[in-house]
Amino acid sequence: MNQKNKQDWMTIRKLRTTDILGQAIKEELTGFTVIDRTDKKITTDKGKIFTEFVSCSYLGLENHPSLIEAAQQAMAETGIHLSSSRGAMRPQYLQQLEELLSEIYGGNSVVVFTSTSNVHLGVLPLLGSGSLPSYAITRPVHWLIDKTAHASMQVLRGVLEQFGLVSRVDSSDEESIQQALQTCKKNNSTPILLIDGIGSMTGVLPVAKLSKELSAAGGYVYVDDAHGISIVGNYGAGYCFSSLDHKLPENLIIASSLSKAFGGSGGFVVVKDIKDVEVITTLANTLVFGHSIMVPMLAANVASAKIHLTTEIQTRQKNLWKNINLFDTLSNNSLMNAGGLSPIRGAMFENEADGFEVARMLRDKGILLFPVFYPFISEGKALLRFAFSCEHKENEIIDLVNSLIEIKNEGFSWLTPKGIIPQV
Ligand SMILES: Cc1ncc(COP(=O)(O)O)c(C=O)c1O
Repeated sequence: MNQKNKQDWMTIRKLRTTDILGQAIKEELTGFTVIDRTDKKITTDKGKIFTEFVSCSYLGLENHPSLIEAAQQAMAETGIHLSSSRGAMRPQYLQQLEELLSEIYGGNSVVVFTSTSNVHLGVLPLLGSGSLPSYAITRPVHWLIDKTAHASMQVLRGVLEQFGLVSRVDSSDEESIQQALQTCKKNNSTPILLIDGIGSMTGVLPVAKLSKELSAAGGYVYVDDAHGISIVGNYGAGYCFSSLDHKLPENLIIASSLSKAFGGSGGFVVVKDIKDVEVITTLANTLVFGHSIMVPMLAANVASAKIHLTTEIQTRQKNLWKNINLFDTLSNNSLMNAGGLSPIRGAMFENEADGFEVARMLRDKGILLFPVFYPFISEGKALLRFAFSCEHKENEIIDLVNSLIEIKNEGFSWLTPKGIIPQV
């Protein structure tokens, strides 16, 4: 098909999207408005109270008195925002946060961005152009994007193509990876693998093994660990860093989020050396031409980082995993990701209508979750996504399991955990 007749990705997405999401919003199965909350109980603008399994703040830190106090104090001192790029002027909390994050990540170097998407947009062009001193590129680049890598990386395909070929791989399939690496070897190119540490919809990837395989091929791994941060690892360094024995391999970069389990807002990147930081802060598009995190959130991030460096983070991690294990045990490991290191469990349905109906039944039982359809997952299917927190009470977990059992007894069924891995 020539360029003129080829459909762009957004048109394809639009054509494939059904009106199921609109219906789910209309019925307030998703997209509802929250006016109040206490722990995991939320009150919507219709005055109804639900238990939510939606939030990605898996450790409940966004409600921590230290974060709230830090935000209030910072606002009183500097106002809500210092509106300028960090190169021109920055709140004192930015440097404090980067130093604390560096401590959490074993002394490696950290740069903070306003979001994880902005980390990708800022850092990947620097990596692909061979501009980062610790990540030299001497041959043409070949990007390998994992099929489950987050949409914030997939959408950059057009940007990445300016630096080299782009292929899709399945990192959970050894043959797919080996084939891709063979192709790179044949073409004398440098493979750069882009993956999620813990998928937002799927399970975990073997980061350490992939790092070794890419290293043997002279390549790099770039890991988005947005969902892995805080919930495991020393000082809550997250899934990726802990699965690497808390050491950053020479060929690996971690991108992560401050807006999920960390309890604050923003994103950051972990690189090998201060020289990489100098390049990132002077050249990354989203830093040079963007503002820094707003003052109260930046100060809250600092307070959260300090908590990460205490034993309190372990207590919260322990309570989170106690809740997840309770759910897995009571539900007989019957949901996606059961027994795994992801804090998310999923019920996948063969068709959108069944998933929709089950979300509706759970809502009527006082439980809200995140129902997702295409383009989050493959066309025609539905996934009910349950995010767990250390703040869920035992009776809330038991209620969820009992509700799922009742729904199953009414004739609804979801695919077994090994059924289908959704494509994001
Ligand atoms: C794995 C992953 N990466 C990146 C993002 C984007 O994060 P941000 O909103 O900070 O850009 C998300 C958000 O949901 C995510 O789940």
